[in-house]
Amino acid sequence: MNRLKIAAGNWKMNTTLNEAVQLAKDYKNGSRANNVISILGVPFPFMHAVLAELEGSDVHVAAQNCSEHDKGAFTGETSVSMIKSIGANYIIIGHSERREYFGESDALLAAKLTKCLEAGLTPIFCCGEPLQVRKAGTQVDYVKSQLKNALSHLSTPDLEKLIIAYEPIWAIGTGETATPQQAQDMHKALREYLEELFSIEIASHIPILYGGSVKPANAKELFACEDVDGGLVGGASLKADSFLAINNSF
Ligand code: PGA
Repeated sequence: MNRLKIAAGNWKMNTTLNEAVQLAKDYKNGSRANNVISILGVPFPFMHAVLAELEGSDVHVAAQNCSEHDKGAFTGETSVSMIKSIGANYIIIGHSERREYFGESDALLAAKLTKCLEAGLTPIFCCGEPLQVRKAGTQVDYVKSQLKNALSHLSTPDLEKLIIAYEPIWAIGTGETATPQQAQDMHKALREYLEELFSIEIASHIPILYGGSVKPANAKELFACEDVDGGLVGGASLKADSFLAINNSF
């Protein structure tokens, strides 16, 4: 199956306006593989300026979060229609930092996914286990339940738009990466589970990205795994050179 290849950056709460626009510009102007979809996960205040900088290029912009509500008295929140209205096409949903520090539950993430998809935007849905679960050896069941709880209500056309990012929490920002074998084992298990939940067509269509200390030095061997369709990259996406190198690692 020829799935999409995706290099997605997640800038998290980093950069100022000038740094954000410069980073997007340097990345846009760099030499990139043209069969790889590039997505930059930009902080809300800078999305509009970054989109303007990227206009006419093939680099996409993602929000890092969205509200589960449509509009109204929700101080500090950002709706999918706001995100859509500035021209962004992707939303990262359920990052482990949102789950852990902001108490986002599977049920909340299911609602956010619905809003995102109703608006015609593409969710990058994150899942992944904490260290103690990995140590106990129950990581596959743990991540399967995250998928079941957040995705079960989605229809086939919705699922065809979905991107999944498997990000073991113990590998995020720690410098410790899952081995290609660990990544491949989990991605394969998740793909088999998607087949069980939905269909073989859906399972073989959905891109599953790996995230957790992806860098130029390890991207190639991770992306070479059969079920790893790209990366969701934090720290190494904050430098144009290293994110370009990752984009060129397929
Ligand atoms: P990292 O972050 O690449 O800095 O480990 C990945 C992520 O949190 O998406």
